[in-house]
Amino acid sequence: MGFVKKLLSFALLGASLQGLALGDDFPPEDIESGKALQQLSKTAYDNAIARLEASPSSTCTKENVRVRKEWRSLPGEERTAYRKAVECLMNQPDVYGNETSGPRTLFDSFGVLHYHLTPAVHNSAYFLLFHRLYVWTFEEKLKTVCGYTGSLPYWEWGLDAASVENSPLFDGSETSMGSNGAKENKTNPGFFPGGSGGGCVTAGPFTNYTVNFGPNTAPDPLAYNPRCLKRDLNTQICAQWASLKNTTDTILESPDIALFQANLQGDFRWPEARKFGFAVHGGGHFAIAGDPGGDFYFSPLEPVFYQHHGQIDRMYFIWQNLDWENRQTMDGTITMMNMPASRNGTLDDVLDISPVGGAFQYRELLDTLGSSPFCFVYE
Ligand code: CU
Ligand code: CU
Repeated sequence: MGFVKKLLSFALLGASLQGLALGDDFPPEDIESGKALQQLSKTAYDNAIARLEASPSSTCTKENVRVRKEWRSLPGEERTAYRKAVECLMNQPDVYGNETSGPRTLFDSFGVLHYHLTPAVHNSAYFLLFHRLYVWTFEEKLKTVCGYTGSLPYWEWGLDAASVENSPLFDGSETSMGSNGAKENKTNPGFFPGGSGGGCVTAGPFTNYTVNFGPNTAPDPLAYNPRCLKRDLNTQICAQWASLKNTTDTILESPDIALFQANLQGDFRWPEARKFGFAVHGGGHFAIAGDPGGDFYFSPLEPVFYQHHGQIDRMYFIWQNLDWENRQTMDGTITMMNMPASRNGTLDDVLDISPVGGAFQYRELLDTLGSSPFCFVYE
């Protein structure tokens, strides 16, 4: 074999191995059906466990690693235990003290934190790592304050693209996180196609939950403003932007962190990301919508925020673990859409979420295993 031909065949072999490793040769029907996503998820899980086996830390081992699972794969009693732990956080005191009149509970404190950091942690360098720490801190509080023994369940939106209303997360049963909002007649649905609810949650858990502050458009967003939890479940948005195909394509079509986070958030500054529209991040949020679920600043006051962002973090986990060595970087600046223009974020920057949680260098948050505060994988 001539030298050039040999080189070429090596290159082709390399390309096809790379293709196999990243799975970008899946047939279209497997991408549509979610079979491809299942395989990617399994590969990422296996790779992560292999890394853990190769280098366990003193606190994180294969034996004690936390495994986060999809909502519907949990037995009913585990879903109920999770929901009760969230209700417990709604009965613990706020940690911000008396700065503002709205926040009453530890659950509320997470909303205050998110409100303060919103302009720095969305469409910025910090988006994925901030939300990873944020969701984990919520899981830790469930465990340490409320005695929850499970791990944080996530919501794979694409599984409900045929009917969000019938999702085991929203069907209003005792093992759900409460129902859709009451159907409201909308004369002006606004920018988004309207959902199927819009009013107060009518059945099951969180029917009597009081949202204590917000919305972001209020004159004083942190002032006490008690009201019901409203939802406007939206199957059309889920199917269009948060489908299994969109989720899979986002993972497969993102060779670097800049494009991955752009595709996941529909950041139109990247031409490649424009076809994803609202993208899976916006798609998941607006499949729930309502108040405060549709509020950019206060969406964490909607209890299922944590299932939605669990899935965002799961996508990040899968993407990272498909090519771990090359996927421990950060890209972007420290302001939303770089407005106002700002410096680049770095892994040496410190993320301090006190008094809700701790302070860490972003570098420490890259790995969900090992030399980090974390010790979890996604199934
Ligand atoms: Cu957020
Ligand atoms: Cu979000």
